[in-house]
Amino acid sequence: MRFEYNIEAGNFTKAGDASSSFKKILKQLNVDPQIIKRIVVSLYEGEVNIVAHANGGKVICEVDTKRVNIQLIDVGPGIPDIEKAMQAGYSTASAKVREMGFGAGMGLVNIQRCVNKMDIESAPGKGTKLFMEIHLRPDEKFKAPPESPESHGV
Ligand SMILES: Nc1ncnc2c1ncn2[C@@H]1O[C@H](COP(=O)(O)OP(=O)(O)O)[C@@H](O)[C@H]1O
Ligand SMILES: [Mg+2]
Repeated sequence: MRFEYNIEAGNFTKAGDASSSFKKILKQLNVDPQIIKRIVVSLYEGEVNIVAHANGGKVICEVDTKRVNIQLIDVGPGIPDIEKAMQAGYSTASAKVREMGFGAGMGLVNIQRCVNKMDIESAPGKGTKLFMEIHLRPDEKFKAPPESPESHGV
């Protein structure tokens, strides 16, 4: 099954819409609640990044019996130094974005902690593609998924 969502640039009221919609689908599919949480937190962080840092984009979620694959594809400035962006606390969020409570620099770190696989491809000046894969079978390694300070309510 494949689900696609559009992400509007700069619209923080809508950030989280794709993750809430996909959460409902995962519940209907009876996915383990801990795994749903990991998927939704990761998708939410990816969505917020498109809203905060890029000029809009889309999310493609694919589900089969064993795994969920998510692609977040945006149009935007890209990420010039991915290794740096992956560091805890690193953020280029604007003052305005920080005022709204985002920009702690923990989004990509959280995603990495929650997913089985993750990959970022970025072309400076063109955009970023973030891929992630989460296995649907419970895994001891992920017994206690970390909470994201930004993901209340998802
Ligand atoms: N989709 C994106 N497009 C451009 N830059 C991004 C994108 N996602 C992340 N980044 C860059 O990586 C940094 C770290 O991202 P993240 O860990 O989510 O922290 P935060 O969003 O709080 O800044 C961002 O500040 C930004 O510079
Ligand atoms: Mg972020």
